[in-house]
Amino acid sequence: MSRAPLEQSRKLVTELPGPKARQLREQLATYVPKALSPSTPAFASRTEGGIMEDVDGNRFIDLGSGIAVTTIGASHPKVVEAVQRQVEDFTHTCFMVTPYESYVQLAKRLDELVPISGQTRSVLLNSGAEAVENAVKIARASTGKQAVAAFDHAYHGRTTLTMGLTAKNMPYKESFGPFAPEVYRVPGSYPFRDGLSGDQAAARTIEALESQVGAHNLAAVIMEPIQGEGGFIVPAEGFLTKIVDWCRANNVLFIADEIQTGFVRTGSWFASETEGIEPDLITLAKGIAGGMPLSAVTGRAEVMDAVHPGGLGGTYGGNPVTVAAALAAIDVMEEEHLTEKATRIGEIIRQHFEQVQQDDPRIGDIRGRGAMMAVELVDPKTQAPLADLVNRVAVEARKQGVITLTAGTYGNVLRFLPPVVIGEDLLKEGLSVITDILAETRSDTYATA
Ligand SMILES: Cc1ncc(COP(=O)(O)O)c(C=O)c1O
Repeated sequence: MSRAPLEQSRKLVTELPGPKARQLREQLATYVPKALSPSTPAFASRTEGGIMEDVDGNRFIDLGSGIAVTTIGASHPKVVEAVQRQVEDFTHTCFMVTPYESYVQLAKRLDELVPISGQTRSVLLNSGAEAVENAVKIARASTGKQAVAAFDHAYHGRTTLTMGLTAKNMPYKESFGPFAPEVYRVPGSYPFRDGLSGDQAAARTIEALESQVGAHNLAAVIMEPIQGEGGFIVPAEGFLTKIVDWCRANNVLFIADEIQTGFVRTGSWFASETEGIEPDLITLAKGIAGGMPLSAVTGRAEVMDAVHPGGLGGTYGGNPVTVAAALAAIDVMEEEHLTEKATRIGEIIRQHFEQVQQDDPRIGDIRGRGAMMAVELVDPKTQAPLADLVNRVAVEARKQGVITLTAGTYGNVLRFLPPVVIGEDLLKEGLSVITDILAETRSDTYATA
């Protein structure tokens, strides 16, 4: 039974949160721990394209995609159909017990798509953090070494191992230690703040790897090609190729964490392609399955095969319903030319903020790629981070019906991750709401974070 499409326009019909959402908030506070603190003053009832409709009938422009997940929208008809069909056939067998064809088909599709030459193999899992955990296991088994290096500003998840790989303490790590051993942190490349060229930053990283870890101890270097939660930090040109070259020369595996950047988000299938690097292992999740919880590690066959039979897996990993969704989502990305659409979104966002920046020097940096763009707000004189301002803009935008996310080690980054299928007018309206709010704060003074 097909429903009328959700109208693609912003509309507020109640104060926010509305009466139903307020009641649900009370129940949430009773039954859900305060550690989970949803930021939007609404409860979702339906989401489609670039719009989220709430239980009170308010329609929000979605500039967050549930943190970079619903690239093709949260209810794409092809994904809905594929999921419904699969649920009727079977919901679960556990691939380790009884395999099914779609798992293998998806592994084949990933082999065709990822920027790794030669045969690859894939293991399917449930969450991004689980993919990262498995990539580290595989790297250790393959190299016979234990140490793993991650970068300043990195985000790799919230499990015990991935918390250790993640850089920012609050809120991700505070009071949750001790973390897993043999994880080392090294400086990366943050052109806006360090002013280093790709070569200079890479030399600094390599010096740290050699002096503080030693290549003979190092199983893998893991990095997001564009750092996500860290503030959409695009490394200086040449940085990543230098690091990957060093890894290759030293029998150290390079893991590209493309959980946020992957699946057309940055205007190419994977950001590694644009950076001109070929990872040994890639971690994938988020946009892979049109909103269903699925992740993967894809890697060079000989690396993946270093793990003994039975060494990888899990009850739900590669659940057939999520796999059906992924196969449909990948088709949609191809058929609807979403790499090109993502590139266009990047141009619109960049142009919009470049215009605003001319009159507002608090916009210190506009960066990112494709539908993964951010602005870093700073005190124009000192470049001190304006975290309070970013928070205020995001809160106000949500009150005005625009779902906006923040990021950054210093909390001073507004980030934009719209569904790639969003209409251009809707996107521009959402951006205008944000910059109008920003303009209203020009005369205020802010404490720097
Ligand atoms: C680059 C990166 N790695 C790993 C993760 C963790 O993924 P998940 O939240 O699905 O565990 C995220 C989530 O934001 C991410 O952006």
